[in-house]
Amino acid sequence: MQILSDISSLASYKGCTLVPTMGAIHEGHRSLVRIAAAFDEPVVVSIFVNPKQFAPGEDLATYPRSLDRDLEMIAADGASAALVPPEDLMYPPDEPVWSPPLPSVASNPKLEDLHRPHFFSGVCTVVARLFDLIQPSTAILGEKDWQQLQVIRSMVQMNADRWPAIHIKSGPTIRESDGLAMSSRNAFLDPANRERAIALSSALAEAIKLPPVEAELTMQDKLFSADLDIDYAVVRDAQTLQAPQKGQPQRALIAATLNGTRLIDNAAML
Ligand code: PAF
Repeated sequence: MQILSDISSLASYKGCTLVPTMGAIHEGHRSLVRIAAAFDEPVVVSIFVNPKQFAPGEDLATYPRSLDRDLEMIAADGASAALVPPEDLMYPPDEPVWSPPLPSVASNPKLEDLHRPHFFSGVCTVVARLFDLIQPSTAILGEKDWQQLQVIRSMVQMNADRWPAIHIKSGPTIRESDGLAMSSRNAFLDPANRERAIALSSALAEAIKLPPVEAELTMQDKLFSADLDIDYAVVRDAQTLQAPQKGQPQRALIAATLNGTRLIDNAAML
């Protein structure tokens, strides 16, 4: 596997399948790399902890970093190259980096956009920069960050003239055996909080069988009983993340904090 860190080495990967990550690779990322490796194109995994998507006071400094292990795992899963860019490749100090206009799904739903107001502008800026530099044919993102997935899909549609050839695909959330969605931030949970964190996936598992209003009440009740600090526990239209529409795919989404660790999860309503 090649390690790429400059623009010239990227040229031969035009048309690749890109898996963008912030490192701290776990089974969730690995499953995306394996999905990517099943396509015909070379697979590039980017590893960059993007400072623009963290607000002051969030966990940028403590975000888990494990580059050597990450590289071993993605190589074993079939990546052809890892892009590990220095910060000045992503954000050259002497060149303004384009910040794409934000799609409405990045500001209307009042979900992640409300609780992390800077987040989608940081994500869109870094993903747009990766797309411009690499020019992949496909990018694969995890469904655990459901709103992020819709935002990136929408950003690509809005900029079809800039990236006519990029397709966005997604991979399902990978879970621990007790249901907890894999996340780099799970590393912050001590055993007691790790146990309480199961409330997110168990609340979703009950909620998806219910009509939207009951589903929301059930999730709030379960999270409250586990003493989690709830940002939201809602059912929304799966694509727009506005109020759910009868007959359209719906998604249950949760964000909650336990002891300073913020976790998100979601599931399709049955
Ligand atoms: O989901 C992530 O890990 C990040 O938000 C992404 C898409 C790699 C952008 O930094």
